[in-house]
Amino acid sequence: MEKFKNKKDLSTHVKVLKAQGSTIGFVPTMGALHFGHLTLVTKGLRENDIVVVSVFVNPTQFDNEEDLVKYPRTLEADIELLKTVSKDKIIVYAPSDKDIYGNTIESEVFTFDGLEFEMEGAFRHGHFDGVGTIIKRLFEIVTPDAAYFGEKDFQQLQIIKKLVELHHLPVKIVGCSIHRAEDGLAMSSRNTRLSPEHREIAPTIYNTLKSAKDKFSTKSAKEVSDWVTKQFREQPLLELEYFIIADVATLKPVKQKSLDIHKENRKYRAFIAVYAGDVRLIDNIALN
Ligand code: PAF
Repeated sequence: MEKFKNKKDLSTHVKVLKAQGSTIGFVPTMGALHFGHLTLVTKGLRENDIVVVSVFVNPTQFDNEEDLVKYPRTLEADIELLKTVSKDKIIVYAPSDKDIYGNTIESEVFTFDGLEFEMEGAFRHGHFDGVGTIIKRLFEIVTPDAAYFGEKDFQQLQIIKKLVELHHLPVKIVGCSIHRAEDGLAMSSRNTRLSPEHREIAPTIYNTLKSAKDKFSTKSAKEVSDWVTKQFREQPLLELEYFIIADVATLKPVKQKSLDIHKENRKYRAFIAVYAGDVRLIDNIALN
C-alpha cells in the first residue's frame, strides 16, 4: 500500500495516475478507522480505480482542547485495516499539521447559506469553519473525482455539498448510510473511548431515535422532543445535549409539520447529540 506524508509527493503521484486514465475516489478521515469507514472505502473502490484515504486529526475543527488531545490516533492499525480491503488500490495520505497548515493553524471563515448555524454549528463554535478549511485543502491536494462521507455526520455532509456548490469545486459528493453495531450504536471513532457501562447503555440513543420516528407520524415535533428529553432525564448515564427535528434542506428546526408527512416533498430528520461520560456521540434518523 502506498503511503504519503507530504502533499507535494501525493499530488505528483495522483497526477501520474490521472494521466494514465485512473479515476480517483477520496475518503477523508480522522483515523481510528472502523467498519463504517471501510464501507465508504469499498463504495469508493466500486466507483473509482483508486481510493485515497486521508488520516488527519484536524485541529481547527475541535472547539474542545481535551477532545482533540484524547482523539484516538492509531495509524498503524488503520493501515492494517485498509489492507483487508485492498493492498494495491488504496493510497494513504497521513500528513502532519505543518503539511496542511504551514506555521499557522487557523481556519478560513465560510458561509454555508445558514446551514452552519444549526445544531453542531450552534454547540461547537467554529467547527464548520474548521471542516470547510480542511476539506477544501484536501480536495485541492487530492483532486478527487468523487468523495465519500457518512450520513452519521449528516450536517457535515450537507455543508460539504454546499461548499462544493458555492466554490464550484469539481468533485462529486457521495453520502453513505450510517453503519451501525449489531445493537444499533452508530459506528464512530469515539466509541473506543466509551467505558464498558457507557458502551452498554449507548444503544439507547438509536432506540430513542427509532421510537421518536414512530411517534412523529402522529405527534408534533414539540411533543416528540419533549418525550425524548424526558427519556434522557430518566437515564443518569447519558446526558442529552440536543434533540432536534429539522427540515433536511435548511436544517432548521421544524415548528409546524404537514398533516401527512409521508405524502409530501418536505423531508424531515431527527438529530441528536448525547454525552456518555466525557464522550460526545451524535446520531440521526430520517423521519419520512
Ligand atoms: O468526519 C470526519 O471524520 C471529519 O470531520 C473529516 C470529514 C475527515 C474532516 O476532518
